[in-house]
Amino acid sequence: MKKLALITGSKGGIGSAITEKLVSQGYRVIATYFTGNLQCAEEWFEEKKFDSDQVRLFELDVTNTAECAERLPKLLEEEGTIDVIINNAGITRDGLFKKMAADNWHAVIDTNLNSLFNVTQPLFAAMCEKGGGRVVNISSVNGLKGQFGQTNYAAAKAGMIGFTKSLAFEGARYGVTANVVAPGYTATPMVEAMRDEVLESIKSEIPMKRLARPEEIADAVAYLASDAGAYITGETLSVNGGLYMN
Ligand code: CAA
Repeated sequence: MKKLALITGSKGGIGSAITEKLVSQGYRVIATYFTGNLQCAEEWFEEKKFDSDQVRLFELDVTNTAECAERLPKLLEEEGTIDVIINNAGITRDGLFKKMAADNWHAVIDTNLNSLFNVTQPLFAAMCEKGGGRVVNISSVNGLKGQFGQTNYAAAKAGMIGFTKSLAFEGARYGVTANVVAPGYTATPMVEAMRDEVLESIKSEIPMKRLARPEEIADAVAYLASDAGAYITGETLSVNGGLYMN
């Protein structure tokens, strides 16, 4: 039987690469997309040539606690199992803290951090009851080292790491692991949206002198999700070209 993985933010740069990787390994993927973005999600599905056994598109606002609490248990019932949860949905609202609007603080904390509660909580007990599962949370190098202009983002991404270590304690006795992948600067629309001179200056600080490819992040996620990752829990796996070594 196919293993089933749920990925939030599945059609973004990293999410899309993770979806393709897991599909290539024989998983069925529940690919969540943000409310109202069905057309965009369907275009992505067509472009990647998925079929409906491989990928099921699933509308979900990961910031909406009530919606997740209602819809995710139903999804679990329909699909029978969820073996892997990948909390990948994330946004940036970069800006100097002294000028940061409260909306930009809350949007980032809601999407990048509160979503971990909203998505994981309705599914976690079933994973424990089943006696196995994987939670992989996509953080960032900037959650580890901080970054000028990213107080909101770094707070959320660092929070994900504390959440994951704590969840790892709770899942361990049931064979449910919880880990973090912390990508460095990756060739995705999010990073490419940065001002050229800022991005160039960051690239010059990366020991490998290049951005990560989304597939390199997906490979790390697939490893933690696999049977080979069974004894790894509470870990943060950096994939950052040497930008930050902790
Ligand atoms: N350290 C110290 N000072 C810095 C600095 C840094 N890293 N970067 C900029 N400054 C200084 C500037 O020199 C400037 O100084 P002066 O006023 O004396 O000239 C001042 O801070 C203001 O800088 P900007 O002109 O850049 O200000 P801005 O308001 O136009 O832009 C910003 C602010 C949007 C935060 C911009 O600096 C920026 O984009 N920074 C990079 C943020 C970043 O790395 N985002 C990552 C996005 S991708 C991602 O998040 C994925 C992931 O996980 C890695």
